[in-house]
Amino acid sequence: MRILSPIRAQVLKNTFHHPLNMGLGHSIFAKPLLAVQDSEKAHSRALKLLRFMVSNPITRGTVTLLYKPSNRIPISKFGIDFRNPFGIAAGMDKKAEALRGWESLGLGFMEIGGITMLEQLGNSKPRMFRAGKSKALVNRMGFNNPGSEKIAIQLNKHFSKHGQPKIPLWINLGKSKLTELEDASDDYATTMQRLWKYGDVFVINVSSPNTPNLRELQKDDDLKKIIKACKDVNKTEAALHKMSPRPILVKISPDVDDAQLLAIVNTARSNGCNGIIASNTTTSRPEAKSSGERKVFAQAGGLSGLPLQNQSTEMISKIYKMTNGEFPIIGVGGIMSGEDAWQKICAGASLLQAYSGFVFQGASLTKQVVNGIEKKMRQNGYSTLDQAIGSAHRDD
Ligand SMILES: Cc1cc2nc3c(=O)[nH]c(=O)nc-3n(C[C@H](O)[C@H](O)[C@H](O)COP(=O)(O)O)c2cc1C
Repeated sequence: MRILSPIRAQVLKNTFHHPLNMGLGHSIFAKPLLAVQDSEKAHSRALKLLRFMVSNPITRGTVTLLYKPSNRIPISKFGIDFRNPFGIAAGMDKKAEALRGWESLGLGFMEIGGITMLEQLGNSKPRMFRAGKSKALVNRMGFNNPGSEKIAIQLNKHFSKHGQPKIPLWINLGKSKLTELEDASDDYATTMQRLWKYGDVFVINVSSPNTPNLRELQKDDDLKKIIKACKDVNKTEAALHKMSPRPILVKISPDVDDAQLLAIVNTARSNGCNGIIASNTTTSRPEAKSSGERKVFAQAGGLSGLPLQNQSTEMISKIYKMTNGEFPIIGVGGIMSGEDAWQKICAGASLLQAYSGFVFQGASLTKQVVNGIEKKMRQNGYSTLDQAIGSAHRDD
């Protein structure tokens, strides 16, 4: 009998057990195991495993081959070419630990962070909870991250060793807890300045429910001030590096009414942002399907996953109508399949992201989503993705 080295045996064991895994192995082994594992520990193990799998050219090649989605739905937005419209959402890789892993999983782009100017531990643990029957998560991480200085050092090392990532790198900017709300613009702008040369797109996140009063910054004057500070950095750094300015997006909360939504979208648009991400997690709660879920939904924090799906798709629809389809929308919230993704495209999203879907469906989600969109395009007679975007608002 061939004896496996302990590390290889561990990898094979984990391959069946980690939450990014797919297919039969996932449904037979991973789900029951995940149900009893601490959510944050499971997440951190999955990232470690992903890093390990892509550190060796042979296993990296296998992962790439296994998860490769269709390459027939590329899209260009805000001057950037994406090999497909589906990316990893913020929060999944807060410390930028698995960049090569995301590339190998077939994604069109990856968003790291939220990153704050200062290093911070985030809220005390446990702070991430799973409601499996409802395919929902509740988290109150509170921007745990190494801070902008350390991330800049780490990205510098990564770029020196591996070169520029093969897919666009988005950077999610958060506000440090210690920074007063009135000084928020400095906090966002400093992080952007430190990370400018590494990021292809920057996201102003004023919608996390887990930093006290952060959502107040969605208000007109505060948001304007943050956008202006980030745009100033963008201009200076672009001139310094003799490059084009980076697109800047604003990520919004799903817990705003229509008037607030219109105001935020108008502020972002009229102050020169390049698009809107809808949406972050919600503070609202669905009906629990069990007593276990009731406990999860009673936790403070933001809810993501399937129960957020319609709320976020409706927001996309509203923003598309408010802007006559002229302002790029990035759709995120409850994408668990190609069908879910298609609904967001038809509602008006040009690009899509997911977090919770990867936890519940595994790493094959990208393939399901990208191939699923392509199939729907063909069924509906569209030859490019651009033709499908916002089609629910037209009589095509
Ligand atoms: C554990 C966790 C951490 C998150 N951290 C961030 C973050 O730092 N910044 C941010 O803009 N969104 C963050 N999000 C929100 C996601 O990016 C996404 O907007 C939300 O989860 C809805 O998508 P989903 O239903 O596909 O998970 C986080 C979500 C989760 C579950």
